[in-house]
Amino acid sequence: MTDRYASFVQSGAGRALVKRLGLPDPPRLRRHRPGDPLLPGPALLGTAAGGRLAEPVGRILRAAGVEPTTADPAAGGDVAVDADTRFGALLYDATGITDSTGLRHLYDFFHPYARSLHTSGRVVVLGTPPEQCATPREATAQRALEGLTRSIGKEFGRGVTAQLVYVTADGDAGTATSLEATLRFLLSGRSAYVSGQVIRVGTGPATAPADWDRPLDGQVVLVTGAARGIGAALARVLARDGAQVVVLDIPEAGDELAAVANEIGGTAVQLDLTAPNAATRLADHLAARHGRVDVVVHNAGITRDKTIARMNVDRWTQVIDVNLSSQERINDVLLERELIPLGGRIVSVSSIAGIAGNRGQTNYATSKAGVIGLVDSLAPALAGRGISVNAVAPGFIETRLTARIPLALREAGRRMNSMSQGGLPVDVAETIGWLAWPASGAVSGNVVRVCGQSLLGA
Ligand SMILES: NC(=O)c1ccc[n+]([C@@H]2O[C@H](COP(=O)([O-])OP(=O)(O)OC[C@H]3O[C@@H](n4cnc5c(N)ncnc54)[C@H](O)[C@@H]3O)[C@@H](O)[C@H]2O)c1
Repeated sequence: MTDRYASFVQSGAGRALVKRLGLPDPPRLRRHRPGDPLLPGPALLGTAAGGRLAEPVGRILRAAGVEPTTADPAAGGDVAVDADTRFGALLYDATGITDSTGLRHLYDFFHPYARSLHTSGRVVVLGTPPEQCATPREATAQRALEGLTRSIGKEFGRGVTAQLVYVTADGDAGTATSLEATLRFLLSGRSAYVSGQVIRVGTGPATAPADWDRPLDGQVVLVTGAARGIGAALARVLARDGAQVVVLDIPEAGDELAAVANEIGGTAVQLDLTAPNAATRLADHLAARHGRVDVVVHNAGITRDKTIARMNVDRWTQVIDVNLSSQERINDVLLERELIPLGGRIVSVSSIAGIAGNRGQTNYATSKAGVIGLVDSLAPALAGRGISVNAVAPGFIETRLTARIPLALREAGRRMNSMSQGGLPVDVAETIGWLAWPASGAVSGNVVRVCGQSLLGA
């Protein structure tokens, strides 16, 4: 599905017209290509006095080939920026802010450099989870960071993304590795359509890869609903990043599924997830072929839209069964048979409809809110087994599903976000990929929206 308006705007003639009329101006987003530098320009790293993360973040940046310029306005250490400097990223360690008056440091850092960011540049603010703060005042100040990052995401435009990363104060080795994984994801073009998010890095087993360009080397990954759309893009991204991918879809989609499997050198399983014993049959297959499954991605999903007054019971039960109950059945069998090992990952696909609700989608939104409940309940329950559980919640993604939306609604969905455009299946795939990395083990219990900071449910 092509976005003709975005193509027009990105052409020379279109640019001038859009500027003159003040129309939405969708930028060309920076997307990851293996071998790309992490950032399109230098990084500026600021810190409030007493911050505990500037030093490890500096080390991570240097390991990724970025020599950060450090700015410490609190200590009077402003960096002189000439008019032509374009930073690839502005990072700020706010963990040293212990009360609301200290929030002034945020202004001091962002005000002078706000116009010095590259197109598709990155803003990352690092904080302490409010519930871990020593005093109510510190918790208040740390909670306030969310308003800053979400607003910057809306203000800066030109494909710039802004996120808040809360890093546990009781970190272990896994925390450091997962902070590196998270920064490598957020700063790169992999996170092109992720903005305005709050990500929590906790504790847990996490292993850094030998090569960050192949962060899934040797991992056995299952992707459901992989014959087309987001699932097919996901299979390609995971294989590119080194995984052995098992793709699954309904028998009717067998040809498309086989084409995806052949293209990526993976294996295909034709199975309807609503069939009796589907979970057991899948577990038997994974046990026989691989002896384990390191990553399970629950991506298969359907819509059967009608207002609840006009909906028959089949539409309700089918959607809940495919989108939610089948995930529970598969998790139960794979966990009971211990086929997901220590360091395993479960990633589910939710939707912003599960956060905001949507007219005509009571069944779908219920199932997708249920997926968030699954993450909330299962993540703590599986922490002891070293298995992380997360979800992504896509917004408007250009697929067959969204191509069926009536034109006026489709245009509204595309433009009502900070990027003024729909996302691509690859944007969801890259985000799931990051959550699946062995290096991301200390990121669990998160629901990360891939929605270009959609206004829906914001
Ligand atoms: N496209 C979007 O904008 C968007 C937005 C939010 C969430 N999502 C979610 O992302 C996921 C993928 O969506 P998509 O846009 O790629 O949809 P899609 O319809 O293109 O792909 C879904 C795949 O799931 C498979 N599937 C359906 N029922 C199945 C079953 N019973 N057993 C096995 N496979 C089954 C389908 O055959 C299909 O290949 C879904 O969970 C969807 O709800 C999509």
